[in-house]
Amino acid sequence: MKLPDRPHTPFFLQIYQWATRPTNFLDSCTQTYGDIFMTEWPGSDSIVFVSNPKAIEKILTAPPDTFNIGQTYEMLRPLVGKQSLMIMDGKPHQRQRSLVMPPLHGESMRSYGNIICEFTEQMIQQWKIGEKIKLGSCANKISMNTMLQVVFGSEETEQLVQLRQKFIQMFDLISSPILSLHLFMQPLQKDLGNWSPWGRFLRLRNQVDKLIYAEIAHRRQQPKLEPTDVLSLLMAARDQQGRAMNDEELRDEIMTVLSGKGTSASAILFALYSVYKHPEVLQNLRDELNSISNLKDTNAIAKLPYLTAISQETMRLYPLTLVAMRLTTKPFEIMGYKLPVGTQIFPNIYSTHHREDLFPNPKQFKPERFLERRYSPYEYLPFGGGHRRCIGYAFAPFQMKLVLATIVLHCQLELIDDAPINLVRHAAGVAPEKEVYMKVNKL
Ligand code: HEM
Repeated sequence: MKLPDRPHTPFFLQIYQWATRPTNFLDSCTQTYGDIFMTEWPGSDSIVFVSNPKAIEKILTAPPDTFNIGQTYEMLRPLVGKQSLMIMDGKPHQRQRSLVMPPLHGESMRSYGNIICEFTEQMIQQWKIGEKIKLGSCANKISMNTMLQVVFGSEETEQLVQLRQKFIQMFDLISSPILSLHLFMQPLQKDLGNWSPWGRFLRLRNQVDKLIYAEIAHRRQQPKLEPTDVLSLLMAARDQQGRAMNDEELRDEIMTVLSGKGTSASAILFALYSVYKHPEVLQNLRDELNSISNLKDTNAIAKLPYLTAISQETMRLYPLTLVAMRLTTKPFEIMGYKLPVGTQIFPNIYSTHHREDLFPNPKQFKPERFLERRYSPYEYLPFGGGHRRCIGYAFAPFQMKLVLATIVLHCQLELIDDAPINLVRHAAGVAPEKEVYMKVNKL
């Protein structure tokens, strides 16, 4: 059976490059082998990387039972739990997804606009003229705090304050390089007491779980409350049979939703870095924002064409999930190759977004390309696609645009170091390799 080409470098060098400089690995392989190539690494399934839009369409529109996807998220199980929609396939996945999507879309999502702007303004108020700020850490705080408020609401009960604090501690821990390694390597997942990273994580997770279950129990005693945050909307949701989610499902889906905050934070960072690196883009954005009559209208802001193009171009150039993952459950034919059961097929988002024929000068940040041309969902796919498309596909750009607009409107910043930023492995995904510093020039 003919299989796609494989890189000829020793496998340990390939693994090292994929683990440390994944974008260099993808650039060099696509340059040499084109739209499809394959890796065969000891201890791993064969992986086929595909960056041809027609072939990606075939993968993403294949019947759901062609692939097992839950298994590809297995390493997130200790965080999101076994009832998370991520870990599931088939009907159970469909059910959970249909319950979790509505609070993150449409009117519900738009109602979070003010929360996002208020948190961003609070952050700006803490800055001082002349101060050097750490953009990554600011983006993280904004993303974490808005997500927590969106999920649990704004009440300041002792329980909720504690819950938010514990969440922040747990997510800080989980994004440390040492704990990321534990997620990848199951043998490291040993509870050796509170001094060991895994032991600390388990204890924090138990504390968070207790607080979530207590919050759910508290809310169950007040069924008449109008649902306004994600937790209460999830508690009120019913599937087609009229069944609600049980406590464990609620806990796991809350974790699933919150696990998207790291990617969102990195997206915010890249948007700010890209805009301040390109003065003409910053000026165009300022002009567009100044054309709005009501700057409190978050929906009007989020619909602005140039701001939208900036957010699209940011996620094209820096796709924070480099590949979508599919594991074949039946033989699958693609681009003339017949792939056996148990092959991982990765729609290669990064290399598709860097195709010269679709995005001329692909390494250049140029929001205008999204105003000049429409791309198909298989040419531009920062959120993957098909029935497993990211559930944050509307919320993440909404948040990114509002944070960016609020910062550009309220202050003048200057990028201290505009050297290129690489994407490196971080927790279960990728993130900017370094902190980005900005100087506050005017408030
Ligand atoms: C810029 C920010 C984000 C990017 C670039 C991103 C990207 C992605 C991608 C590429 C996938 C895989 C889709 C596929 O396999 O076809 C995915 C899945 C997922 N994302 Fe996101 N994501 C972002 C933010 C978020 C946020 C904010 C949330 C939570 C609200 C979230 C929750 C999820 C979940 C639960 C899945 C699994 C969906 C399923 O399997 O049905 N993501 N994301």
